[in-house]
Amino acid sequence: MGNEKTIPGYWRDLATQLTNEELIAYSQNGVGGAIREILKDSFTEITKQLSSDCVEVGALFAPLAFELPYQVSRVLFLDPAYKIRRPQFNTKIPYELSTLQLPDGIQQITQWLQGETLLILGSVVNYLARETVSRLIRDSNITEVIVGNNFQAGFGEKHESRIRTPRDLQGLFLENGFKEQPNVFHTDVTVVGIFSR
Ligand SMILES: C[S@@+](CC[C@H](N)C(=O)[O-])C[C@H]1O[C@@H](n2cnc3c(N)ncnc32)[C@H](O)[C@@H]1O
Repeated sequence: MGNEKTIPGYWRDLATQLTNEELIAYSQNGVGGAIREILKDSFTEITKQLSSDCVEVGALFAPLAFELPYQVSRVLFLDPAYKIRRPQFNTKIPYELSTLQLPDGIQQITQWLQGETLLILGSVVNYLARETVSRLIRDSNITEVIVGNNFQAGFGEKHESRIRTPRDLQGLFLENGFKEQPNVFHTDVTVVGIFSR
């Protein structure tokens, strides 16, 4: 069964085989494409500016941080696929790339956090343990989470201790003092939206 050491092997293979353009298209049109479209719709409903520091986990080559309706001031991207190839983003926004995968990257995230921070989890929750997501948001400066996840989707091995349902993910946010912003999209197997505290 999967554990967090072996899960990203699939993504490393993907990053080996695809060109930069194909990796961008994978996120924009591929398996997470529909989720990203719903998320981008909900961005138009954001009534206040979210935190301008941002951490995006599993960002791959087309980060959502660059598609927000406002400009973030600094951003940390984590993805073990960057061990194979590092993207070069054409942006003036200061950004850092980390090849660490969670949970190992949690310490780096914690050290990087200065003030209130937006966390983006785009189609990555299937590859994280529940405890890992919990550690990330518990007692941290993370004040908003943008999340999109289809719990049935996912390539490669899925973590055996992962969050299984939208309800379980929502419960974890509520336990940690987050509230749903309006227009969170739910089905039995998908959740897409913004949580704030
Ligand atoms: C389905 S892709 C999603 C890519 C992009 N966020 C999107 O929405 O299209 C999952 C990404 O998460 C990364 N990933 C998998 N396990 C991870 C972990 N434990 N920590 C950080 N990133 C991880 C993979 O390398 C891959 O790039």
